[in-house]
Amino acid sequence: MNINPEFIGAIDKGNRILLLDGVTVSFDGFKALNSLSLAIDYQELRCIIGANGAGKSTMMDVITGKTKPDSGQVIFGKAVDLTELDAPTIAELGIGRKFQKPTVFANNTVFENLELAMQDDKRFFKTLFAKLKSHQKDKIEQTLKLIGLKDFLSVEAGVLSHGQKQWLEIGMLIMQNPKIMLVDEPVAGMTPAEVEKTGEILRELSNDHSVVVVEHDMEFIRSLASKVTVLHEGSVLIEGSMSTIQNDEKVRKVYLGE
Ligand SMILES: Nc1ncnc2c1ncn2[C@@H]1O[C@H](COP(=O)(O)OP(=O)(O)OP(=O)(O)O)[C@@H](O)[C@H]1O
Ligand SMILES: [Mg+2]
Repeated sequence: MNINPEFIGAIDKGNRILLLDGVTVSFDGFKALNSLSLAIDYQELRCIIGANGAGKSTMMDVITGKTKPDSGQVIFGKAVDLTELDAPTIAELGIGRKFQKPTVFANNTVFENLELAMQDDKRFFKTLFAKLKSHQKDKIEQTLKLIGLKDFLSVEAGVLSHGQKQWLEIGMLIMQNPKIMLVDEPVAGMTPAEVEKTGEILRELSNDHSVVVVEHDMEFIRSLASKVTVLHEGSVLIEGSMSTIQNDEKVRKVYLGE
């Protein structure tokens, strides 16, 4: 990777870390994203909501380099245009994504899953027999605590509950030290207690990452008490607090047909 650090700039609290500027993506003439513009700050927890087909996942696909837009820019840091980079380079720059379905290694322990996620060299046996450095062990321990799996480190990931698997996967994302974490529908299928714990984890993570959460669960979004962006037909309909959004005419029209 050959990116001028000046183009990234200082990654500090309150600085903008990501800017989508006029991003359009068409599939056979249908605009899944229609001149979408939005900005995310460093150490921000941002919720993205919108009806099915609003373009939420497509937006994540564009940020991570999976889909190239027809037009528009995605600026990381000061001036790195992600639309010009391939997906592995974007990941290496510090943009991590968690998909809806957990993809943990079922036959490995929780600890080993975190260990594997941390290594650059993904060759399985090499990783498992490599000796961990003490700062790596510390990082795994901190992460286990954060995701509530300290007492499960020797448990095979396959026997964890659905919620615990999701947390483990969030943990695996943390091990890669991302600056931005994109999290697609983290609480789908969770029990109320698991939903609450997930909110705590994401809030905690936003202390030193930017976290962008796509969710349909409005109670959960409300509990996060952070800025919400409503997508509609591939553009931003409105941004603001949950109460601003709930009382907005446009939102009521789109969601409730009023
Ligand atoms: N690869 C593709 N080819 C054709 N159409 C696509 C493709 N990917 C997405 N679309 C369409 O683009 C629109 C936006 O899809 P997207 O998956 O981004 O929505 P979403 O907001 O994530 O919805 P959901 O809440 O259901 O996950 C939809 O109409 C979808 O059918
Ligand atoms: Mg989606």
